[in-house]
Amino acid sequence: MLRPLEQAYYLYRGIKMVLFKENRKKYFVKDKFSSVSPKYDLLNSILSCYVDHYWRRIAARELTGFASGPILDLCAGTLPLSLELIRQHGCQVAAVDFCYDMLQFGASRTKGREGINIICGDGEELPLPGKTFHGITVAFGVRNLGNLEKGLKEMFRVLKYGGKLVILEFSRPDNPLFRPIYKFYLHNILPFTAGIISGDKEAYRYLAESIDAFPAPKTVAKLMEKVGFRQVRYWPLTMGIVTIYTGRRTGDLRAGGMSEDG
Ligand SMILES: C[S@@+](CC[C@H](N)C(=O)[O-])C[C@H]1O[C@@H](n2cnc3c(N)ncnc32)[C@H](O)[C@@H]1O
Repeated sequence: MLRPLEQAYYLYRGIKMVLFKENRKKYFVKDKFSSVSPKYDLLNSILSCYVDHYWRRIAARELTGFASGPILDLCAGTLPLSLELIRQHGCQVAAVDFCYDMLQFGASRTKGREGINIICGDGEELPLPGKTFHGITVAFGVRNLGNLEKGLKEMFRVLKYGGKLVILEFSRPDNPLFRPIYKFYLHNILPFTAGIISGDKEAYRYLAESIDAFPAPKTVAKLMEKVGFRQVRYWPLTMGIVTIYTGRRTGDLRAGGMSEDG
């Protein structure tokens, strides 16, 4: 079972609201996701030709064997990965995101589903006790964090010994033939199309710019190791449009996640 939240919260329409400190990037990111939230899922499916569902399925599958205890789905947005985790593993999921509007759209799809605990809070200051989760997933979220290292440290803190982190994030294709085509799509076709459908072109310009600015997979993996994750692995999917990263907190989860052995 999930332990109670560490910080004070109030309940608003079934979502636990936790206060957090904002800065300019957080304000901008939250505002952009808020503005596209009604069309977020539709646009994801259109712009990725439905492949985003496959990517999340693969990410959720990485937690096979880790779902006997609670799983944290960080930057959960409209909860597509949280629901996939429940579908695949029937586990308890804490879905955390700092954008209330995104969570609210997700919450409307969780009716009648057991095991989901929705929390509106900051991933860089998780309002959750340490060593709580058997697994953590973050899909398309780490790129948006103002301070990636701080976010990773928080993930490490709340993961039990022996637990596993799975990150799914956009990356930049290596293939010299495909790379310019993808870049053109990302910077021109995507903001234009998404701008018309969502009414917020800037949000999708931000998407392209944040993908360009995000560190290379090797650098992300090094940062994961720096904050304490071990057995860090990463591999590309769909020609490197996205990359999956996994890492473990050493120890033995079967021993109740209580001991560290390495
Ligand atoms: C691209 S969406 C991903 C949503 C979902 N995981 C998915 O697979 O579609 C990124 C989400 O990260 C959230 N986010 C960004 N920075 C955050 C932070 N510091 N704390 C919590 N959530 C954050 C945004 O509000 C947004 O909902």
